[in-house]
Amino acid sequence: MSTSLLLSAVVVLPILIGTLASRSRGPARTTRIPISQERVVIIGASSGIGSELARIYARRQAHVVVVARRLELLQQLVQELSPTAGSIHAVQGDVTSPEDVRRVTIESLRALQGGIDTLIICAGVISVLPFEELAGIDPAKAADTAETSELDFNHLLPMSSRAALDASIKIMNVNYHAPLNLAGHFLPALARTSAAGNLIVVSSMAGKVGAPTRSIYCASKHAAQGFFESLGMEVERTGVHVGIVSPGTVITDIRQSAVDLPKTESSSSSSTEPRKIAGTKKGAMTAKACAEGIIKGSDLRQHDVIMPWFYRASLALKLVAPGLVRWLAKKKYGYL
Ligand SMILES: NC(=O)c1ccc[n+]([C@@H]2O[C@H](COP(=O)([O-])OP(=O)(O)OC[C@H]3O[C@@H](n4cnc5c(N)ncnc54)[C@H](OP(=O)(O)O)[C@@H]3O)[C@@H](O)[C@H]2O)c1
Repeated sequence: MSTSLLLSAVVVLPILIGTLASRSRGPARTTRIPISQERVVIIGASSGIGSELARIYARRQAHVVVVARRLELLQQLVQELSPTAGSIHAVQGDVTSPEDVRRVTIESLRALQGGIDTLIICAGVISVLPFEELAGIDPAKAADTAETSELDFNHLLPMSSRAALDASIKIMNVNYHAPLNLAGHFLPALARTSAAGNLIVVSSMAGKVGAPTRSIYCASKHAAQGFFESLGMEVERTGVHVGIVSPGTVITDIRQSAVDLPKTESSSSSSTEPRKIAGTKKGAMTAKACAEGIIKGSDLRQHDVIMPWFYRASLALKLVAPGLVRWLAKKKYGYL
């Protein structure tokens, strides 16, 4: 067998097998839960992918609860979608607050008259700085070390290591601890009140592969992937399906949520010149296309949805040609 044939077998076969194996057997979920009867809670629905999810579910006449902190945006969405949705309610809440998560769970169940079929955890924040910059590590200072003879080693310590730790705690709270806590709160209702409960978490390709300037974001998404992959196996026996969605770049304003930039720098509405953020949006998908993919994956009860589909190849390539995957990630973020 030639090398190229062997390579394509190694890359293509896992994709095919993975795709087939990730589909659930048994009657289609949409047969068990007609789309106009589906009761859906979308966490992080005030903008971007989450609000597009709400629009599609509303068009399907589902019963929808939209959750986020920015109540005015949620109320606008409710006003826009009320004419088409089976029903739609807004619940304000900060998912990093345990009290809010408990209240959001109760208010969502009340709005949906006691039952839920689908929880989509879409809330998330990003980071955009190289770790060295975030941690206050100055390479120029490192070059001076030979000339210094300080015994307290200050010249070898970072200038502001606290900033990196603070940003990491913030991003882990939203992208990992909050989804974990939401899962804990909604799982009993998903198992007991639905014919086929779905818990869908919107992760990212950053949860599958690393990328320069996105270190703490990647860490938070890798943590969430590990948690939900394991949880899915644990709760399968209760009838609840756990699906993880990993989109590539999507056109939204997520960069405004960067935990490692001051609000004035991350906001494009700032009067000062906004900082140039590494990473190209070339080939990015729209939030609508991403939302359609998420809902398709939920309907089919797929465990691992990767978008666009050809990004699946990067997982196989990571095993057989890791150098190529590193090269592609470095190229995308300007590190070549
Ligand atoms: N855009 C991309 O390129 C991309 C790619 C792959 C994966 N993703 C993932 O997709 C998800 C949605 O991102 P997006 O691109 O649509 O960004 P976005 O427009 O900034 O949406 C983020 C949503 O999360 C909510 N949120 C953030 N912190 C929250 C908190 N503490 N409590 C409650 N809600 C909170 C925001 O609402 P409030 O601010 O009103 O609270 C907003 O509705 C994220 O998990 C992100 O990691 C995005």
